Amino acid sequence: MRRRHTGLGAVALATLALAAAAPATATPKTPADTRGSTVAARPDTLRAAAQRAGIRIGTAVDDTALTGDQPYRQIVGREFSTVTPENAMKWEAVEPTRGTYDWAAADRLVDFARSHGQTVRGHTLVWHSQNPAWLTEAAFTPAQLREILRRHILDEVGHFKGRIWHWDVVNEAFNEDGTLRDTIWLRNLGPGYIADAFRWAHQADPEAQLFLNDYNNEGINPKTDAYYALVKRLRAEHVPVDGYGVQGHLALQYDFPADVTANLRRFDALGLQTAFTEVDVRMILPADAVKTQAQAQGFATLLRSCLLVRRCVSYTVWGFTDKYSWVPGVFDGQGAATPYDEALTPKPAYFALRDTLAVAGR
Ligand code: G3I
Repeated sequence: MRRRHTGLGAVALATLALAAAAPATATPKTPADTRGSTVAARPDTLRAAAQRAGIRIGTAVDDTALTGDQPYRQIVGREFSTVTPENAMKWEAVEPTRGTYDWAAADRLVDFARSHGQTVRGHTLVWHSQNPAWLTEAAFTPAQLREILRRHILDEVGHFKGRIWHWDVVNEAFNEDGTLRDTIWLRNLGPGYIADAFRWAHQADPEAQLFLNDYNNEGINPKTDAYYALVKRLRAEHVPVDGYGVQGHLALQYDFPADVTANLRRFDALGLQTAFTEVDVRMILPADAVKTQAQAQGFATLLRSCLLVRRCVSYTVWGFTDKYSWVPGVFDGQGAATPYDEALTPKPAYFALRDTLAVAGR
């Protein structure tokens, strides 16, 4: 869905800024509690607010929760207009043994999305993590690896042809200093693997919008300067790269990134779409009222940048509830990173997102 190219008027911009400064509204028990509030026709879901603001709002989806947790499933369908499989489309999941595909979990999400009028962000085709052992533990020649990668992309994108809105084609290609990450792909195929991956994905599904995706790429820094130079070169070579994805994994113990809007605007100026693809704001536990308010501002800060950039088309959180968040399993002693708590109750971050969208939608 393309965003209306209506630049936010001065009033909306000012209101957006005020909304950003004001503390997130108190946390009624459920979103429905704010119905009948004094604010006329305030949209009562993220999805409704985002539609009026002209972007899609999304979440990563855990397959086990989608199939086994009915309240979770209801929120995914009610609050979001785009979904991303948290793990189900990764190489280790779809091709656990060479030439044997398992599309079941990914198809479940694609079918769910279709029945709920949602788009799907495909995640991810080329990465250095979650590759199957048969791929990483064998001694393939570079030529063999290139053909294996080509086959993988053609098979996976081809399987979902016509059903994927965005593909995260290449994930996390750069280091923080702007050098290319040392991966099985760079070592064996050279830097050209990136352009090849985009060409193969486009060949398999010419309608899908093809994204680069990374973390710590919100503001202007050596990493994003490297992405900017890469995108300029790829576009000059007519490589079909359509979008720049910002994962947006923030943490309260670190500063929020600066100049995010300026960074997105320079990719927008190259003709690219942009998207926030994996937003969460983790904290050192235990959570408290100050931390959850600061967290709300973190979510809203990135959302405001999306709303201020012409072709920022979507904002996706990396799981909407602390109940299934990846964070505690990776960052010891940290968590509470999402807009809903473990009991699937919305936190201040939920209302900060909805209020920020509601302002933009006026
Ligand atoms: O599937 C196995 C299961 O068979 C086994 O019983 C279980 C226990 O070991 O592990 C399961 O695999 C886990 C997998 O998620 C699927 O649940 C892996 O151990 C676990 O490491 C993996 O974590 C995922 C992580 O990527 C891997 O790097 C997270 O769920 C997922 O949220 C996270 O997502 C990434 C994005 O794809 C890219 N950007 C960063 C983001 C956070 O790391």
